[in-house]
Amino acid sequence: MLAGGTGSRLFPLTKITNKHLLPIYDKPMIYYPIQTLVDAGIRDILIVTGGRNAGDFLRLLANGKEFGLSHLDYTYQEGEGGIAEALALAEHFADGQKICVILGDNIIEGSIRDAVDEFRKQEAGARILLKEVPDAERFGVAEIKNNRIVNIEEKPKKPKSNFAVTGIYMYDETVFDKVKRLEPSGRGELEITDVNNAYIREGNMTFSHLDGWWTDAGTFDSLLRACNLVATTQVDPARSSD
Ligand code: DAU
Repeated sequence: MLAGGTGSRLFPLTKITNKHLLPIYDKPMIYYPIQTLVDAGIRDILIVTGGRNAGDFLRLLANGKEFGLSHLDYTYQEGEGGIAEALALAEHFADGQKICVILGDNIIEGSIRDAVDEFRKQEAGARILLKEVPDAERFGVAEIKNNRIVNIEEKPKKPKSNFAVTGIYMYDETVFDKVKRLEPSGRGELEITDVNNAYIREGNMTFSHLDGWWTDAGTFDSLLRACNLVATTQVDPARSSD
């Protein structure tokens, strides 16, 4: 779970707290992606945090009892060198095993269980989850030919499809060597899109389509959207009887 970065697009909300601790309707943002992992049967979870409020994650989540976990791992990203830089900090934790990565601001309605199960069966390579969106230029965008992803462009001005690459990625153990070979992008970050393109060039990338709604929550508009989607989807009998 990657929850580093400074959340500068949400300033001043993120001036005194970490973006992933902000509320999405009735829970802190980070609760949702943790629940997504737990619902997929993943119980060994490392949280990569950063910034000045990293200790708050420990106070909030402790050992993950609220999620039925008995243990959580934590590590600290200095600065915000990009998603792939944050991922590199998980090498020790992964210890040669396959991993599932989720961005701390990605909130979904459905489940990733089927995709995770497919990846468990996949011998090598990577698997990503795509979602058709009306505003693909905000995301990594997959170019698909003959039902294969042939390239991913990060925030293209003219997207080649409407299929956004969601912030849920599954990798084999070679991911860490791929990250080590990356060069910083124009925005000075190690890009997860470059990692994914390395798998595509090897012919080792598969994908699934994500069911249900999906949103990030890293801008004012998407934060509001995330709150509204969660609020209208949750059917909580205790609340509706108020
Ligand atoms: O949400 C999906 C999109 O996420 C993908 O479609 C894009 O390909 C991918 O690059 C990413 O785009 P964003 O520009 O929206 O990523 P952002 O910088 O907002 O970071 C998303 C999360 O990644 C953030 O909530 C925490 C984590 N992160 C990010 C950075 C830059 C880190 O842990 N460390 C970092 O240094």
